[in-house]
Amino acid sequence: MLRLEGVGKRFGGLPALDDVAFTAPPGELTALIGPNGAGKSTLINCITGVLPASAGSIRFDGRELCGLPPHAVARLGIARTFQNLRLFPRLSVLDNVLTGLTAEAGRSMLMAMLRLPYLRHRERQLRLRALEALDRFGLAGKADWPAAALAYGDRKRVELARACVGRPRLILLDEPVAGLNEAETALIGQELRRLRAAGHTLLLVEHDMELVMSIADQVVVLDSGRCIARGTPDEVRKNPLVLEAYLGRTSVTA
Ligand SMILES: Nc1ncnc2c1ncn2[C@@H]1O[C@H](COP(=O)(O)OP(=O)(O)OP(=O)(O)O)[C@@H](O)[C@H]1O
Ligand SMILES: [Mg+2]
Repeated sequence: MLRLEGVGKRFGGLPALDDVAFTAPPGELTALIGPNGAGKSTLINCITGVLPASAGSIRFDGRELCGLPPHAVARLGIARTFQNLRLFPRLSVLDNVLTGLTAEAGRSMLMAMLRLPYLRHRERQLRLRALEALDRFGLAGKADWPAAALAYGDRKRVELARACVGRPRLILLDEPVAGLNEAETALIGQELRRLRAAGHTLLLVEHDMELVMSIADQVVVLDSGRCIARGTPDEVRKNPLVLEAYLGRTSVTA
């Protein structure tokens, strides 16, 4: 389980996160929502070691993540997607997904020096797993394409396949359906449900409220870096603080 306590992050003097606390229970989908600039991506970056938190504690299965570099966080079984796609444009779709298995491939480098046939077998296994992941997202037919040649929706799915391929215990998704049409969104929604059913813990940052409210076990609401509400989708939907955060900002009474 992921447990955050008193998490803060400052950029210069400005707080982007302030005293954020919540837990993401194992096997559940926790949605993290909030207006633009609320600090959602910053929080994902702090959890994954991309940015150092300025304060607080982030524990995964009791282990402190604060201070760990991204590769060490990944090795604990935590994977993510990025809000702005981060694929290698010239690599093939398959090779992009294989980068999601670098921790495992790295171990086989040592084996390469010891027993070559084992390495070939291992490589074949990893490629098979990458192909399986692509297949789940309907992309097996494009495995050899350069990532740059894919349409936007396909690129989003390659990122998801890359995040899932290592069978991480915790997957952090930063706006996986942003810019996708209704049919594409529904497919991603189905895949997120399947991942949860398979036992993965999910933290979903998303502005698509229809998806969030239909899929989340728990919703956490950030506003200006602070956690202003937490609860089931129904509880959060009715919370006046949440309504104000989304609607009240520009009202004359603000
Ligand atoms: N690297 C950075 N340096 C300085 N300020 C930053 C940096 N990254 C984010 N911020 C600021 O921190 C705040 C939170 O940004 P963040 O990207 O986490 O918001 P968000 O909730 O993900 O928003 P959105 O829904 O638009 O993606 C914003 O005010 C942003 O300008
Ligand atoms: Mg963001």
